[in-house]
Amino acid sequence: MPITTCIFDAYGTLFDVASAARQAAAEPDFARIRDDWQTLAEHWRLKQLQYSWLRAVADAHCDFWEVTQNGLDWALEKTGHGGDAPLRERLLQLYWELGAYPEVPQMLAQLKQAGMNTAILSNGSPDMLQGAVDSAGIGGVLDKTLSVETVGVFKPDARVYDLVGTAFGCARDDVLFVSSNGWDAAAASGYGFATAWVNRAGDPVDRLPWTPAHILSDLTGIPELAAR
Ligand code: LAC
Repeated sequence: MPITTCIFDAYGTLFDVASAARQAAAEPDFARIRDDWQTLAEHWRLKQLQYSWLRAVADAHCDFWEVTQNGLDWALEKTGHGGDAPLRERLLQLYWELGAYPEVPQMLAQLKQAGMNTAILSNGSPDMLQGAVDSAGIGGVLDKTLSVETVGVFKPDARVYDLVGTAFGCARDDVLFVSSNGWDAAAASGYGFATAWVNRAGDPVDRLPWTPAHILSDLTGIPELAAR
């Protein structure tokens, strides 16, 4: 089936999650993380995701803002910045205005010009996602922003991927699902979407029962892939 609908993960895929710690580290008030902001950002991201998976399997849902704060608190303590309230506050503030990767606006505009449906499907809560979309200025090239809060469970629960068919009335194989999270792209393949894993870091493929159909190093090739 030809692709009619291109669906994007948000954090790490359209929005650069490391940009919060990178930007804080560049500010004179937070020079204390100049040497370890990358380690802090990596711990923050990994704990945030771990907590989302654990809450999904344990049927203990809370919204993504809460796991984002919990992950940050763990990461601050791990890197010796526990109890640094101004740093915590600044990093959380920056999370609402993450930078989009540079190719994102044009890539989405190309998909819209080609007549594709475009949407975000994310663990993020609706208000977090609205903040990121507004700050990146990409609301005009996205048809919808779909949040897991509608179903109350995190990825990769199938009820999350079901939101796409419900929103657009399309079949699974009409959808190209794009994520920088290898596990998300893999699970979406298992669900029946065509998938692209955006592997900016050149990471190994996740050892899971499913694999992404396509692997790209950034988002510029998505319009061509969707048109194939
Ligand atoms: C999201 C996370 C997984 O946006 O990056 O859903």
